[in-house]
Amino acid sequence: MEEVKIEKLDNQGRGICYFNNKITFVKNALPEEKVVIKLVKENKKYNEAVVEKIITKSPKRVDSLCPYFGICGGCELQNLNYNDTIDYKKDKLSVIMLKYANLSPEIKVITSSKNLEYRNKITLKVLNNKYGYYESSSHNFIEIEECLLAEKAINKFLKDIKYLNVKNGEVIIRSNYNNELLIWIKSKNKVKPYLDYLKKNHKIIGIVINDNLYYGDNSFIEIINHQLFVVSYDSFFQVNRHICSKLFKLVNEYIADNEIILDLYCGVGTLGINASLKVKKVYGIEIVKNAIVNAAMNAKINKRNNILHMLGDVKSELPKIKDQVNTIIVDPPRAGLDKSVVRTIMNFKPGKIIYISCDPMTLARDLKLLSKKYDLCDTYMLDMFPFTEHVECFCVLKLR
Ligand SMILES: C[S@@+](CC[C@H](N)C(=O)[O-])C[C@H]1O[C@@H](n2cnc3c(N)ncnc32)[C@H](O)[C@@H]1O
Repeated sequence: MEEVKIEKLDNQGRGICYFNNKITFVKNALPEEKVVIKLVKENKKYNEAVVEKIITKSPKRVDSLCPYFGICGGCELQNLNYNDTIDYKKDKLSVIMLKYANLSPEIKVITSSKNLEYRNKITLKVLNNKYGYYESSSHNFIEIEECLLAEKAINKFLKDIKYLNVKNGEVIIRSNYNNELLIWIKSKNKVKPYLDYLKKNHKIIGIVINDNLYYGDNSFIEIINHQLFVVSYDSFFQVNRHICSKLFKLVNEYIADNEIILDLYCGVGTLGINASLKVKKVYGIEIVKNAIVNAAMNAKINKRNNILHMLGDVKSELPKIKDQVNTIIVDPPRAGLDKSVVRTIMNFKPGKIIYISCDPMTLARDLKLLSKKYDLCDTYMLDMFPFTEHVECFCVLKLR
């Protein structure tokens, strides 16, 4: 056990110090703090450690409301107050943009009106009939009875989760605007939930076991800004509906009337449908079959008939579009854009690219390539994931 001084936070919200001349990452330690650490992992290039005792506390430290904080890998920043988490995220984004894209944009921040009880989806591990999360960057299991980030309906369900009767595997619980639940169980064991009890106490729309419908429906309805979205158990949907609502409005601010737009990585069609009242035509591309089926249905139930949804990989589907495109919206998974997709996007020569990203590192990598022909005009940090190290970015690029 050693006493060290924490210099700053890393990109994952861990304290950084040097121990035996080696960079050491310390969970739940804040800059300027003097702490006694215990090493939990020693690698050639770095160590990982935990705090055994705080000698000098940072004035920014707050007591976390969550009993699992510091152990559980679900969130990293509950030791700061909300405004300080925003400062950290903004700095982190600036540093990454400068280091990996040579860009230093002014970052506008959009905070979440709800910073606890905001997640509409959680994924729990199940180990010997116990339900919980893994510790951060490990497979150490911690049983949990509540998650402060999750919506109320999910926490209410967690009190009865044992009635799902899963021995081992994974359970994904989603909730919607109406506190309804959609549950997806993945397990190699036979699973027989106590359905009568669960139905009596919770608004369960459906239970899917592996990929088979066990009860009810395999999708439910979410509402954002008065638009309805059918969402299947395996379709992507933004986890924070409060920020999602602001994101929709932001996208529309940057789209002019009568444009032809592309909504790449469109999920259940949200951004394109949201913009479709303004624009002439929308093309949406998505790789998950249920999601694109949801997207087509969502266009119909919202009475939009100027959208073409295409199933497939953006890499192979995008070159099939022959229209002259004004704006391309991309909202890829964490891996960002494939180099060939960046090339195809630039070949379209759209006047504007709106890049929405949940991983600033891959965003910066892709912006560096796009910067050859595009100027970064506006950059927003939307706090989609309060009290975690994660950031959602919204960048607008204009053709030079
Ligand atoms: C971050 S989500 C964005 C979804 C949507 N824009 C929204 O806001 O709800 C990324 C989406 O890209 C899809 N996806 C991942 N790889 C893809 C690929 N190579 N081609 C097309 N879609 C892909 C995922 O299934 C997911 O729905």
